[in-house]
Amino acid sequence: MIFRQLFDQTSSTYTYLLASRHGGEALIVDPVLERVDRYIQLLNELDLRLVKAIDTHLHADHITGLEALSERTHCITVMGEQTKADVVSIRVGDGDRVGIEGLTLEALYTPGHTDDSYSYLMPDRVFTGDTLLIRGTGRTDFQNGDPRAQYASLFGRLLKLPDDTLVYPAHDYKGDTVSTIGEEKAFNPRLQVKSVEDYVAVMENLTLPNPKMMDVAIPANMRIGLAQQIVAGKGWAIGAEEGKNLLGQSDVILIDLREDQERRKHGLIPGSLHVPYQDVEASLKADGLLQLLGKAAEKTLIFYCAFGERSAMAVQAAQEAGLVNARHIHGGLQAWQQAGGPVAR
Ligand SMILES: [Fe+2]
Repeated sequence: MIFRQLFDQTSSTYTYLLASRHGGEALIVDPVLERVDRYIQLLNELDLRLVKAIDTHLHADHITGLEALSERTHCITVMGEQTKADVVSIRVGDGDRVGIEGLTLEALYTPGHTDDSYSYLMPDRVFTGDTLLIRGTGRTDFQNGDPRAQYASLFGRLLKLPDDTLVYPAHDYKGDTVSTIGEEKAFNPRLQVKSVEDYVAVMENLTLPNPKMMDVAIPANMRIGLAQQIVAGKGWAIGAEEGKNLLGQSDVILIDLREDQERRKHGLIPGSLHVPYQDVEASLKADGLLQLLGKAAEKTLIFYCAFGERSAMAVQAAQEAGLVNARHIHGGLQAWQQAGGPVAR
């Protein structure tokens, strides 16, 4: 496995880059906007293709690199289903899996620091966001933080992992880089409490100043979806209502870009063809399926995904590949369902 821990000095944030091999797919956890050039350079140096970028939660102390990375690499952005970030490509729930070639992370819902905090588990390590820090825990006094929920996330979930599980947090302010569950159980001062009441008392007596970036970072991180506005401006988007009228027309094909897990969980538009987002690029090449359907069979391709982010990127790629009739459903399956569009399970 290729594993890199990167550091942003301004916000003391750790960002993690993972891949199973050189020349393959990569995933990044908690990227920082100001460091995006560095990530892209490293991806190029290691010959990696970034396909997914995850934020463990809505950050208050730095602006996320999710949108910039998505624009520059066309990667999929991932956050938890509770997040208030307006548009992310995939929203995961507890127990969902986030996969790339050769690697799978399990999403663990670990609220407390915020109500959208997730940890991501691999067989030997866990990315704990701001839920569990090295010899500390994330503050619980803003962004719907809740010390009781955090106690449950820590004692009920993370500390039940095997003692030798490596702990990689989203921040460290002292220079530590990695710990283990066993070490934190034994030496983390915040975890030496006898009850949830003790823990709540500890957390309520911290009186911390607000993060310097908070007033800038939270609003910025809640608006991370620009691709759809650009695509709508070019006339390549259709509304869900319009999409409903096209259902069943023989010259129209709806293309579902989501992953199997999402299709099973949320259903799909009847009659749609499945082309996972990751395969779109290859499928738009001269002899690819989408190119054949669009050009040779003269079908109008209508892309859709969960919220419209992946389909906005796919319709741009299709237009660049010469499929001038290609469109996407603005707002994705979510907008479709709100418009009363049929969904098959
Ligand atoms: Fe945080």
